[in-house]
Amino acid sequence: MARAPDIVKCNAPMIPCQRHLFDIPREVAYLNCAYISPIPSATRAAGQAGMARKSRPWELTPLDFFTEAEATRNLFAGLIGATAEDIAVVPSVSYGIGIAAANVAFRKGQTVITLAEQFPSNVYPWRRLAADRKGSVVTIPPPHDGDWAAAVMSAIDAETAVVAVPNCLWTDGGLIDLERVSDACRESGAALVIDATQSLGALPLDIGRVRPDFLVSACYKWLLGPYSLGFIYISPDYHDGRPLEQTWIGRENSEDFAGLVNYRDTFQPGARRFDVGERSNFALMPAARASLELIADWGIDQIAATLGGLTRGIAARAQSLGLISRPDDQRAGHFLGIRFPNGMPEGLVGRLSAAGVHVSVRGTSMRVTPHLYNDAEDVDRLFEVLESTL
Ligand SMILES: Cc1ncc(COP(=O)(O)O)c(C=O)c1O
Repeated sequence: MARAPDIVKCNAPMIPCQRHLFDIPREVAYLNCAYISPIPSATRAAGQAGMARKSRPWELTPLDFFTEAEATRNLFAGLIGATAEDIAVVPSVSYGIGIAAANVAFRKGQTVITLAEQFPSNVYPWRRLAADRKGSVVTIPPPHDGDWAAAVMSAIDAETAVVAVPNCLWTDGGLIDLERVSDACRESGAALVIDATQSLGALPLDIGRVRPDFLVSACYKWLLGPYSLGFIYISPDYHDGRPLEQTWIGRENSEDFAGLVNYRDTFQPGARRFDVGERSNFALMPAARASLELIADWGIDQIAATLGGLTRGIAARAQSLGLISRPDDQRAGHFLGIRFPNGMPEGLVGRLSAAGVHVSVRGTSMRVTPHLYNDAEDVDRLFEVLESTL
């Protein structure tokens, strides 16, 4: 069997293989970051140490409820070129989109634009809002030329209240050029709400250029962090808005635990009022911090270039078997969706997983989504099964 192209060798240019930082058995070819990433060993250690603190609560100080969350908020902000003032802690994407839906301007009868087959966390809150305000959700069908941005822009009109889109489609990696969409939103006065869960950490995004109203991401995929924790960027235009919960820790001067009974209606500065309750999260917050530090150390540009090389190598090899994927300029570099022109062979996913190869099927697309822990041997394992099945 042919070896994978050089680009996927463990010592490829850009970032060399980082498998040693993870706990992945040699016989496992985990090509499924789009589903849920493994956490680095340092993240696991940080999470375990965080959890252990609860065994000795007498050692916790009120300050501990703030410092870790602030440091992590700051790291997340750094990934997108924002400041900590604009970031809130959320437990999920659906929670973050809930914040957006509760705060965007939406007149009776207006519309929300979404993409066909977009992940539901950025759909259901808009269906609810539209139903409540006698408006509707407009779903953009997949464009024939793969240019999602153009398709979205041509659908924006005077009735569009919100454009709610991802940066990269979760089924096949289809890329949405957010800067063009953002310009069109600004011209028409529509709010831009982004679910960046399938791209943040692996695809550069500059908040100053995209200028969204809200941008949310879970930590557990391309940020290599824990489940049940995420972050949302909230544009300063909304900092006076209404949080989903009325938390005590989001109030001004909440550092003074003895004074918490002096109820107040003023908030901590910036987007902190939108933080989920109990956001100090002693186990998950240090874990997220460790992962974000690692990603910052590697650098998102370098991660993107490295993963782009990996998926291009896989796409070329898949093509030689008659399989198809989006052209490189229509997909996010880190994310490959492979389609089978004659239909996906029955039982393929089962055969792959029996061989220790982990990918996922979404719609008609087989997602092959590697990260820095993958190497040529993983790719060879994938193709061993594909070649023997097709
Ligand atoms: C694009 C995208 N957004 C969000 C999520 C997760 O959403 P939530 O945090 O609401 O469970 C996923 C999970 O697969 C996803 O692919």
